[in-house]
Formats: sequence, C-alpha cells, structure tokens
Amino acid sequence: MLSERVGLLSSKAILVYEMNEFIVDLHCHIVPYVDDGASVLEEALFLVESQYAQGVRTICATPHLRASMFESSDEEIIRQFGRLKEMAEERFPDLTLFLSREYHCDRLLREHLKKDMILPLGYRPGENREKGALLIEFSGRHTWQQMEEYIELVQSFGFVPVIAHVERYPAAGSKEKVRALAKLGARIQVNAGSILGRDGLKTRFLVRSLLKENLVDVVASDCHDTEDRPCELQAAYYWIKEKYGASYAAAVLRDNPRKLLAVE
Ligand SMILES: [Fe+2]
Repeated sequence: MLSERVGLLSSKAILVYEMNEFIVDLHCHIVPYVDDGASVLEEALFLVESQYAQGVRTICATPHLRASMFESSDEEIIRQFGRLKEMAEERFPDLTLFLSREYHCDRLLREHLKKDMILPLGYRPGENREKGALLIEFSGRHTWQQMEEYIELVQSFGFVPVIAHVERYPAAGSKEKVRALAKLGARIQVNAGSILGRDGLKTRFLVRSLLKENLVDVVASDCHDTEDRPCELQAAYYWIKEKYGASYAAAVLRDNPRKLLAVE
C-alpha cells in the first residue's frame, strides 16, 4: 500500500516542482527503526519521496541520540541508513544523502565527545571525518546557563554547534536570547513547520520575528512522518521568498546548510 503511494507521488512530483530543486534538509528523522521517525523502510522511502517532491536534493539524516529515550548505536543507524540510501539514490540519482545525529545535550553527548564518536553534519559512513558542525538539541528544562555550557563544551572539542529548533526552548524564547546564542558562536536552526504555525501562534510569532531580524541560519524540516510531523520545506520556501525575497530563502534553505555540511 505504502509503496504504491510512493510510486504515484514520485512521477507527479518530478514534473511539478522543477522550479526550486535546490533545498538542503539538514535535520530530519528518515532513518527507519532507530528513533521516533520513520518506523519502517517503506515509510522512510515515502518521507524521502516527499522531501524530493518539495525540491530537496541534499538530505542529512539526523536520528536522535538521547539518554534513556533514543539510544540506538551509531553502528545500527549506519546499517539502517545504508539500506535507505541505496534505495533512495537508486530511485533519485540526483539526490545526495548524508548521516549525522541530533545530539540531545546530556551524558551521552558528553560521552560521545570524549570517546571521539561524533558523526558531524555531512558525514558519509566509511569516511574519516573528525570535525565539522553538530546538531544539538535541548529540552524544555535546560536552563540558560546549561545551554551556554553545552555550547562551550561542543566548541571545546572543535565542533560548531547548530541549535536544533531554537524556537522550542523556554530558556531561549526571545530574540535577545537567540541573538546571544549566535554571539556565542552557535548557528540557529528553526523548523519549517514552526514558520507556518504548526507549533502554535506564539512559536510562529517568535520564529517569524527571528527571520525578520536575520537571526536564522537554517530552516530544516525535522520531519518524522507524513501525518503529524511532515516535511513542509516547500511551503516554508514560498513563505520566506514572498516575505523576504528569493535570496534570503536560498540562504536559509540552501547556502547556509550547504556550508554546515561542508558541501561545495
Ligand atoms: Fe529532530
């Protein structure tokens, strides 16, 4: 059933969305069986299909790593990612897939940093890549001081911290706080769905004000499925383009994420 939907969507999508085939999705949960994203391989392919249909041509999959919640090993996600990548790139030869993780700021991140077990953004399994940018996530309970400490910790190991969906954290819930995070050297990512109102009016207001103040480095999908947390990059692209122009849309959806993946 799901594979029939995949096939149907792909043939239509290629014709319809030629106009903006450049989007880079830096944050998404498309690797099956490893977190609360795609539950099986077919669903993962359907998610990739949806990203592709919206103009995405470069994807960095970022399965969660979070203590006591999402503890799949790097070996397991590399294995599952390998199967998905092979099938996805066969179906879409002009699609490039990378693998990293969304590192929750907890003891597992500290352990992985100390053990030199980080998969930076733009990682290709099998390559020897030690430094780069790192997608980090906080919870609603992290304090401002803890956020500063984790940013410093990540930087002390030579990585550039990219704050996942900054609009979600009460400790950083204002333009001033987000500006302060950027001053510390963090890069700022917001979710496409938040711009469109998926997380409520308050979050939408904050994210739109961050865009207005030029405080957003990257817009990503953070897609988990096709129902509740889908990819909405195309709608976000058009919203930003309409409001702030094509070059701003290209910066947050293509150029900045490409730099963080170190893809030139
Ligand atoms: Fe995420």
